[in-house]
Amino acid sequence: MSERILIVDDESGIRALLGISLLKMGHIYNEASNARDALAQLESGDYGLVLLDISMPGITGRELLPVIKEKYPDTAVIMATALSDASTAIACMKEGAYDYITKPFDFNDLQTSINRALEKRRLELENREYKEHLEEKVKAQSDKIRQSFFNAITALAYALEARDTYTSGHSNRVTEAAVAIAQKTGVPMEMVETIRLAGKVHDIGKIGINENVLNKPGKLALDEYEHVKRHPEIGKHILEPIADDVLISIVAHHHERYDGKGYPDGLKESDIPLGARIVAVADAFDAMTSERPYRAALSREQALEELKKGRGTQFDPDVTDAFISLMGKQETSFQK
Ligand SMILES: [Fe+2]
Repeated sequence: MSERILIVDDESGIRALLGISLLKMGHIYNEASNARDALAQLESGDYGLVLLDISMPGITGRELLPVIKEKYPDTAVIMATALSDASTAIACMKEGAYDYITKPFDFNDLQTSINRALEKRRLELENREYKEHLEEKVKAQSDKIRQSFFNAITALAYALEARDTYTSGHSNRVTEAAVAIAQKTGVPMEMVETIRLAGKVHDIGKIGINENVLNKPGKLALDEYEHVKRHPEIGKHILEPIADDVLISIVAHHHERYDGKGYPDGLKESDIPLGARIVAVADAFDAMTSERPYRAALSREQALEELKKGRGTQFDPDVTDAFISLMGKQETSFQK
């Protein structure tokens, strides 16, 4: 790749010789015969590399090197020196020069040294660029992961709805209501998003429930009811490999009761994850207002009455209040 290179040497013959070599390599170059001139050139152009003579009258190359490194840290510097001055050249490398070449120049050595210095510079720039954009890349990556997780969850929800006619639409309505409650009660945004996902899949464990029981057109026998009651735990197992603990705990506990008489663990009050207490209210309301083969749907008002009756026993009082207040607004509806 062609680079802009600055030749700094007090001897015009050497500058000309180096210039021809650089042109042969396909680079563009400019010349400076002293330190002051070199700095002026660097100021006006974007140089990838400086070939810097160590011994010049006035400010020497060795003295100029730290100034260049300070002002133009992205510009590579190769020192040019007489054979006898190798130790100074090595000292310069410790101060940031990439390499040194000895006069008289051998074209191949010069080419190798320049290529190596430019390659090293390229890697350093790339490395810095990479570090600078790392944060952005990490964010893009985690957005992607979150998106594919969301897609997986949605696919699970569809799988359940395809199988269970009652659940169809139920998950979306519960999600909407649960999110509204969460927002009303000032739940942090991240938690609201978890509740949104949990609402969609809260009944996912029903995939593991016998289809005849699931779609039975009548009241369930006791053993059938016990079988259905396993769905929160089955849901927990289904989600374990893909979901985080908070989401799983909501799914696992959405049938707990505030008074500790729920299932599967009989958790009480604030021992029940907040998300689960919220989903429980949204779930119960939607269940009551949905028609079942063995009973008609309750009206919105009747269902709200039932929620009030269960306030503090079946349901978290604050969550119940938030939901009732939301439903008090005419425009709010989570019904079909
Ligand atoms: Fe459920």
